[in-house]
Amino acid sequence: MKILSVKDLTIEFHDHKLPERAVEKVSFDMDEGEVLGLVGESGSGKSLTAMAIAGLLPRKRLNAFGEIIFEGKDMLKIPRSELRELQGDELSVIFQEPMTALNPTMRIGKQVEEPLFIHHKELSDAERKAKALDWLEKVELHDPERVYHSYPHELSGGMRQRVMIASAMVSDPKLLIADEPTTALDVTVQAQIIKLLLRLNLKQKVAILFISHDLSLVKQISENVIVMQNGSIVEKGKTKDVFDSPVEEYTKKLVAAIPEVRF
Ligand SMILES: Nc1ncnc2c1ncn2[C@@H]1O[C@H](COP(=O)(O)OP(=O)(O)OP(=O)(O)O)[C@@H](O)[C@H]1O
Ligand SMILES: [Mg+2]
Repeated sequence: MKILSVKDLTIEFHDHKLPERAVEKVSFDMDEGEVLGLVGESGSGKSLTAMAIAGLLPRKRLNAFGEIIFEGKDMLKIPRSELRELQGDELSVIFQEPMTALNPTMRIGKQVEEPLFIHHKELSDAERKAKALDWLEKVELHDPERVYHSYPHELSGGMRQRVMIASAMVSDPKLLIADEPTTALDVTVQAQIIKLLLRLNLKQKVAILFISHDLSLVKQISENVIVMQNGSIVEKGKTKDVFDSPVEEYTKKLVAAIPEVRF
């Protein structure tokens, strides 16, 4: 079953006199439970594509054209109120730097519970707390009760990213968009987070759009991959095929630059 269909997504800035295209005619689909990698050099349009899918583009500064159908709705056209119903519920996003995404003055537990406050008002305080603790455990944080009462600065970077994942997953989304989720972490922690995401994909059947400039990570996590350059897709297919026999010159160069063994 298809859960996401992006058709001819084009994103323009209109800060300048002439509109500048940052994303041009990007089209792809995602199936339920699929892990799709999105790679490409810095500035190729990966994050803008992700933000558009999540309904997070600043509409004032940017013009987006085309279609992004998620759950039967066009994310580019539905009103803000409907977007907010989907965000953090059916669809969640995690970013590179969890410190900026977390509120430094709020205890971890409350932040993990936040999506439930918004989207599952029927839950009692105790039920919400139980769910948050359960998720802190599912993301493999030891002593969830202690983490629940901690503030972000009391945790390591890897722990904070686990908290972000718990908060993104607590309402059982169908699609998780992970934009460079491990880039700020050291290699060992990176590997643990990748394994965690794969386990969640398997157990919770959540589809993951995994964005990274690191091809070796994408190779480990995703069955299919999209390669972007200058705002356009230059190649897409099964990760194995794209990596073993890239067709486009740009992909060949990217693949040639992957270090042999990472883990
Ligand atoms: N707020 C903005 N104002 C003007 N230009 C922007 C803005 N955000 C992004 N851009 C431009 O849009 C293009 C695509 O940016 P985007 O952030 O999607 O790239 P990316 O592939 O995610 O790069 P990275 O790997 O560095 O995260 C870039 O050329 C960038 O300079
Ligand atoms: Mg980016």
